[in-house]
Amino acid sequence: MRFERITDAIGNTPLVRIDPSVHGLRTIDLYAKLEMLNPFGSVKDRAAWNMVRPGLSAAADEDRTVIELSSGNTAKALAVLAGMHGVPFKTVTNRMRIPEIKDLLLLLGAEVEELPGQTECLDPTNTDDPLTAFHQTLTEPGSAYLYTDQYYNDRNTQAHVEGTGPEIVKDLDGRAPDWFIACVGTAGSSTGVARVLREHDPRVEVVGLVSHKADFVPGIRTIDEVQEVGLFDPGTYGTIASVTADEAIDGMLTLARRCGILAGPTSGAAYFGAVRHLRELDDGPAPGPDSDPDRPAGRRTAVFIVCDRIESYLGYVRQRRPELLGRPPQPNSVATVSDAEVRGAPDIGVEDARRWIEHDRPLVVDLRSPFAYTALHIAGSVNIVDELFGELVRGGLPFSKSRPVLLACPVGEQSAKYAALLARMGHPDVRSLRGGIIAWRDAGAPLVRE
Ligand SMILES: Cc1ncc(COP(=O)(O)O)c(C=O)c1O
Repeated sequence: MRFERITDAIGNTPLVRIDPSVHGLRTIDLYAKLEMLNPFGSVKDRAAWNMVRPGLSAAADEDRTVIELSSGNTAKALAVLAGMHGVPFKTVTNRMRIPEIKDLLLLLGAEVEELPGQTECLDPTNTDDPLTAFHQTLTEPGSAYLYTDQYYNDRNTQAHVEGTGPEIVKDLDGRAPDWFIACVGTAGSSTGVARVLREHDPRVEVVGLVSHKADFVPGIRTIDEVQEVGLFDPGTYGTIASVTADEAIDGMLTLARRCGILAGPTSGAAYFGAVRHLRELDDGPAPGPDSDPDRPAGRRTAVFIVCDRIESYLGYVRQRRPELLGRPPQPNSVATVSDAEVRGAPDIGVEDARRWIEHDRPLVVDLRSPFAYTALHIAGSVNIVDELFGELVRGGLPFSKSRPVLLACPVGEQSAKYAALLARMGHPDVRSLRGGIIAWRDAGAPLVRE
């Protein structure tokens, strides 16, 4: 295989069968589409190249900067592509949560600007959100930027309509699989592949995977956030299911240890979600010869996307499953809080919280990013960002039991986890602000800027 340019090596990734002894499915062949083998390491290489290519030489001539709202793989691919063409690259994000990726972006010469944001996903209807305001300035004519606009750009989807989808059909000898399973970030890859597969066979069932509420799986959305993504069309997916960070890491371990596929946690989520979905559908009769002329020997086929590589996620694993890296398990960690504990976490609504603050003066801990806190916060609150708070709590209760504590985060999900954990650790009066700072703001309660 010989190429004149590295960009020619984007696409044509292998489709690899997962050994049935690993997944245990009797009647379904499961294939992994190895997008991690794209040259810059992920499924986003295709979209990034397709989006940026038409404008790159003009951007170089006009001294414009390529810009995108991305915290991960799209930014990485764009940083390389822009750099190769002598064009600066800048990413603007409110969710830079994988330090290795931030370091890599800086190493590649990218500028990284972190903005506050009310959700972790661009919501173009929310004009109060700084990220949205920034997005709007970029779409105005005459900007000094070449904005690739991955959340709305049809060329994101098109990269998969022209590349990923047809490659899968070709590698399955001209047939579409019975199931296609993919994690949903911008929805570009799942939408594009689904479109092609359905043209071949409208019966293809598409499963979209999102991260479990209040959990973080890199590059993908929670069920609430996904509704806000411009390229997301619920009609694309027969099923939308969620995967926890723990399940994603379990899937990642299986891919790495048993299949030799050194993929990141989002790929682990896709594998885990695929096998869980297919297991329910695998109870049919054992395959008989020629039961369906389209499906030799009655076997059915499923394909899932392996979106990126493992190396950037060791810190992610260390934080959530330290025992996997030879460190002692951390009993006082939010990762150990069960769903039942979260449901039972002490919480308080906005109006009651206002009265509580006035009468009992609880310590108000704001778990959001420093950027969000600086923009607006509850008067008198202290800002201890989520990850740092997690570190503090690991060493024991970080404040006296004699003072009540109110925990606040963007929407009340992380704070509920911490409230459950602190209650378990023996704090007698800790509460989570129900609905978070967004509910507080929506109720018209006062917020200050300092
Ligand atoms: C690690 C990872 N997996 C999966 C996806 C999902 O891809 P898409 O944006 O095409 O939905 C992304 C997107 O950013 C990602 O970074």
